[in-house]
Amino acid sequence: MPADSPLLSVRSLSKRFGAVVALDSIDLDVSPGSIHALMGENGAGKSTLIRCLMGAVRRDGGTVLFEGTACDPASPRHAEAAGLSTVFQEVGLIPHMSVAENITLGRESRRWGLIDRREARARARRALARLGLTIDVDQELGGCSIALQQLVAIARALDVSARLLILDEPTSSLDRRETAELFAVLRRLRDEGVGIIFVTHFLEQVYQLCDRITVLRDGAHVVTRDTRDLPRPQLIAAMLGRTPAAPGASVTSAAPADAAPLLRATGLRRRESIEHADLTIPRGAAVGLAGLLGSGRSELARMLFGIDRPQGGRIELNGETFSPRSPRDAIARGIALTPENRKSDGIVPNLSVRENIVLALQARRGVLRSLSRREQDAIADEFIARLGIKTPHREAPISTLSGGNQQKALLARWLAANPALLILDEPTRGIDIGAKQEIESLIRGLINGGAGVLFISSELSELVRACSRIVVLKDRRTIGELRAPGLSEEHILEAIAAHA
Ligand SMILES: Nc1ncnc2c1ncn2[C@@H]1O[C@H](COP(=O)(O)OP(=O)(O)OP(=O)(O)O)[C@@H](O)[C@H]1O
Ligand SMILES: [Mg+2]
Repeated sequence: MPADSPLLSVRSLSKRFGAVVALDSIDLDVSPGSIHALMGENGAGKSTLIRCLMGAVRRDGGTVLFEGTACDPASPRHAEAAGLSTVFQEVGLIPHMSVAENITLGRESRRWGLIDRREARARARRALARLGLTIDVDQELGGCSIALQQLVAIARALDVSARLLILDEPTSSLDRRETAELFAVLRRLRDEGVGIIFVTHFLEQVYQLCDRITVLRDGAHVVTRDTRDLPRPQLIAAMLGRTPAAPGASVTSAAPADAAPLLRATGLRRRESIEHADLTIPRGAAVGLAGLLGSGRSELARMLFGIDRPQGGRIELNGETFSPRSPRDAIARGIALTPENRKSDGIVPNLSVRENIVLALQARRGVLRSLSRREQDAIADEFIARLGIKTPHREAPISTLSGGNQQKALLARWLAANPALLILDEPTRGIDIGAKQEIESLIRGLINGGAGVLFISSELSELVRACSRIVVLKDRRTIGELRAPGLSEEHILEAIAAHA
């Protein structure tokens, strides 16, 4: 193959699902030794393109050349054999198997017909070491944090020595350090001549890492350019198909600061989860939780929502002691939580988009005051429109939506329930930038209506915009609180760094 010819060459690739045109005659060239960003709003067709390339779904038409040869894998296994490797967006690892088994599954070496477990472990350790990880490869995957599971999925893709590596939102659960570690590996692979397709909704990552950018919109190819020739405003306009509206004013507290708080937690602790947490959430305000991965943010949220019970300390809700035994207790008191891991904790795959959206509101009202079908339709349609949930109809099974659109529907569920306290755990992961703004405005609406919001996000800029106070966690302890005015990303990072 001549040095300047593309590694992967896609022409007129098309794919429909029933009436939905997911990909409309897509062209794409990926060069060896380059990192190519694939961008677009939720539902634009990114994951479908990847699934077609990997043989996870069959394309309807078009041609794909890989290293100059026709490529039409019947399954991801076949694609791997041809030199392509991927981390799918919906990772699909097996929680009750070990880390090592998950990394080598389906491509184990055999000795005398038996799986060579020692070799599998060694290979798993090697793949993880490339990501700077030394963890016990015999532990069950399901017991690992979501970030670690994501890293295991990446290690699995690295275990194949592929010439084309495709990563579909690989950094959605990773913190800065882990992302940097991954990027170092990807740059090394690029220098070795590997071609990489990289999907993300984090624009800054594209500018840090990628050489070239392709934008899809509604299943169609919009533009392909070298990264340096596609500045951020143009990239955003290409994704949205319009110039974005200016972001709304930042959220401020609607209640006086000395009003009786909605929730006050003091001295909360629980073994192996939180050592000491103090937290006050006023009515009509958004409080952010900042901290590095493993600092205890989600753990604190789980206690407030009754998933885990504290072993010390107390929670007051509206001035009364509150010790939820289960999420049901918490929901009954008007608390809602959008979980970090939507796949295992939220989406009901067999139900429609409408049913998924009205679930929490219906549960709050109980069987006696059930929502009429007309009310359900109206609520579903309202949120489909406001959040731009891309679905052919409110009755479509939610599992047919793109990853980001499922996430939007899950958020809609809790926003629709009109909670007194909404806990959002990384709500905008995997969500496109148009919808992020709409989510911020929905949060503002809740706050103006007197609700309290607890907002967990690794994107500090988002916290700073949305919150009037930010509580900083480190090593499973709250170490301080920053208040507006004077909230900034730098201040948060300083607070984390300063606390030895
Ligand atoms: N199995 C399916 N059945 C019906 N429609 C589907 C199916 N899979 C995908 N689609 C539709 O194809 C379109 C493209 O979805 P895709 O998952 O490729 O989007 P995406 O760009 O990866 O979005 P995201 O950023 O949310 O991950 C969407 O409209 C989606 O609803
Ligand atoms: Mg996707």
